[in-house]
Amino acid sequence: MAPKPIKKNIYWVGYIDWDRRVFDSLIPTPHGTTYNSYLIKGSEKSVLIETVDFGKEDYLIKTLQMAGIENLDYIIANHAEQDHTGSLPKILDAYPKAKVVTNSKCKDLLQSFLMLPEEKFIVVKDNDEISLGDKTIQFMIAPWVHWPDTMFTYLKEDKILFTCDFLGSHYATSQLFVLDERELYLSAKRYYAEIMMPFRTNVVKQLQRIENLQIEIIAPSHGPLYNDPSLIIEAYKDWSSDSVKNQVIIPYVSMHGSTKAMVEYLSEVLSKKGVEVKLFNLEIADAGELLMSLVDAATVVVGASAMLVGPHPLAYNATYLLNAVRPKTKFISIIGSYGWGCNTVEVLKGMITNIKAEIIGPVYIKGYPKEEDFKSLDRLADGIYNKHKELGCK
Ligand code: FEO
Repeated sequence: MAPKPIKKNIYWVGYIDWDRRVFDSLIPTPHGTTYNSYLIKGSEKSVLIETVDFGKEDYLIKTLQMAGIENLDYIIANHAEQDHTGSLPKILDAYPKAKVVTNSKCKDLLQSFLMLPEEKFIVVKDNDEISLGDKTIQFMIAPWVHWPDTMFTYLKEDKILFTCDFLGSHYATSQLFVLDERELYLSAKRYYAEIMMPFRTNVVKQLQRIENLQIEIIAPSHGPLYNDPSLIIEAYKDWSSDSVKNQVIIPYVSMHGSTKAMVEYLSEVLSKKGVEVKLFNLEIADAGELLMSLVDAATVVVGASAMLVGPHPLAYNATYLLNAVRPKTKFISIIGSYGWGCNTVEVLKGMITNIKAEIIGPVYIKGYPKEEDFKSLDRLADGIYNKHKELGCK
């Protein structure tokens, strides 16, 4: 792929993965993704920021050759995950004089994943700088957005912040900068929901920190670059804030229609009260859409059929995911139906350990819902509506 100039002597040299349809063996990536690698030619030294995924190394080497690079002095690893470093060993073979510049945590992980020798590394700390001659690179250690090793790289003279996964999106595009803001917003939100939401407190910290920098361009390691940084920074501020929306998310699974009848009834009652409801049938739901919906919602209601003596595995899986991504959800409930007795409510409640949410009114019934069961769902809807009102959800 041809190098794309960003500013004088600064190039995008990454790989556009148009075909990638799933990330982390979990989240669909309907728009593909990019592995962004950046080349900076200083007056004295040349540096590559990040590499590309496993199997794409030949493309990167060819792109560097097209950019006229015979020697590299440094390869900066902002993060050890293999979609950024999988090709690092081959790049080091192609450019044997290059040193890997990273922090101590990332070095440890890189040695563990890629078995790179000790002498290949230069270890940097927070605020350390490296001069390329006419350009200066500053390192900002930013742990837990989303791994413990993450750091940002700031190119001072050009005011470009390379943020690695932070502020990124899985969005394959031949364009360097964001063109379609709406489409990009949704891809970035999908990305935030899976990758960054579990670390909301650290996201807020890093947003505050970069607010003090002069930034003309944000260059993440996935998706297009931002020449209007406020676009993604304001979105992140909103998503990571404490405020929740007047929304109820209902991921559900129903084997024979009883749980579905309950879900649909609850949804109708809530809608009539002006609460926005989003249903996700877990048999067919896109996990990325479900996670995106969790970014803002005040309440989650898990709809779970019983299977044998416990929750249906799809409900178990969704509850595990809910707990893992730690949304700012304030209220959680469980509804569903069983045949001959089970411990679904206890099992699912016991799984919610990471979220500081109030558990309200589980409605778990035997068989198809009857008049008194619909009344219980009415009471649950009233409870949710009143809780949202007390919080001032909009
Ligand atoms: Fe894009 Fe955490 O890897």
